[in-house]
Amino acid sequence: MRAIDENTITDAALDQMSATPNPRLKQIMEAAVRHLHAFAREVDLTPDEWLDGIKFLTSVGQACTAYRQEFVLLSDTLGLSSLVNSLHDHRATESSTKSSLLGPFYRQDSPTFELGQSIAVKAHGLEIGIYGRITDATGKGIPHASIEVWQPDEDGDYDLQKHDPKEMDLRGRFLTDNDGRYHLRSIRPLGYMIPMDGPVGDMIRAQRRHGYRPAHIHFLIGASGYREVVTALYISGDEHIESDTVFGVTESLVCEVRDKDSASPFKELPSIRFDFTLAAVKGAGSGRVGADPSQIIKKTQAAAD
Ligand code: BEZ
Ligand code: FE
Repeated sequence: MRAIDENTITDAALDQMSATPNPRLKQIMEAAVRHLHAFAREVDLTPDEWLDGIKFLTSVGQACTAYRQEFVLLSDTLGLSSLVNSLHDHRATESSTKSSLLGPFYRQDSPTFELGQSIAVKAHGLEIGIYGRITDATGKGIPHASIEVWQPDEDGDYDLQKHDPKEMDLRGRFLTDNDGRYHLRSIRPLGYMIPMDGPVGDMIRAQRRHGYRPAHIHFLIGASGYREVVTALYISGDEHIESDTVFGVTESLVCEVRDKDSASPFKELPSIRFDFTLAAVKGAGSGRVGADPSQIIKKTQAAAD
C-alpha cells in the first residue's frame, strides 16, 4: 500500500485518472491536478485557507445568473481570458486582428441594422462614426461579413445595467457591403468599473486594484470560411489604457476618435477608422472566450436535468 503524503498524493491522483479514454480530457485534467497540487505545496495551503477558497468559488457560482457570469469575470480579472485569447490567436495560420475580451455584456440576438444606422437607440451622448473594412489576410475585402457591435454609453453603463435587461440598446449587427466596407454610427463610450458588487469585486478590493476598464467598443466579426474574431477597440487617451483590470488592451487595438477625417463617410461627425482582418478557417472551434450568460446557465441546467 502506497503511503499518501504531500509528496506522493499527486502521483496517486494521476494514477487513478490514467484510464481516461478521451486523450484531451486526460491531458487537461492531469495538468490541472499537477499544477493545483504544486500551488498548494508552494503556498503551504492551510485548511482555513482551503475553506476560504471553497467559499469564494461557491459565492462566484451563486452570483451567476442569466444576465451575469461571475466566473467569466473571475477568469477575466485573473488574466486567464486574455491568455486563452492569445493562445487562440497564436493558432491562426494567417495574420488577423488580435482578439480581445468578449466580456460579460455580450448578448445574442442583437438587432440588425442597415449600414450607416446608429446603434444608439435610447442612449444620448457625443455622436461618433465608425467605419473601415473587413479584409482577408491579403487585404481583399470580405463581402457580407457579419459585424456585431456592443458598447457602454456615455456614463460607462451597458443597456442591461440601466434598463429592463430584455430591452437592447447600443448593440447591433451589420453586414459589410460588396467590397467588405462597413460604417455605422454610435456614441462615444466612457470607461467603466467592472461589476464590483460580487465576490470578484471583493477580490479586486482586497488586491487594491482600481477595477476600471478603459473606454472601448466591442466587435464580433464573422464570415463564412474565416475564423471568427472577438475583439474590441480601445480609445486612446483613456486614463486606464495601460492598466485595464481585465488585460484586454493591446497596442494594435488602440484607436483614435478623429474630429476631422476627410475619408470618413460621416463628414459631420468625429470618426474612428479601423480595418479588421480575418484569417482563413483552420479546424473547428469557437474563438469566443465567453458567451451570452443566459446560454451558460441554460447549458448548465440542461446538463443537470
Ligand atoms: C467588458 O468589456 O464588457 C468586460 C470585460 C471583462 C470584464 C468586465 C467587463
Ligand atoms: Fe465592455
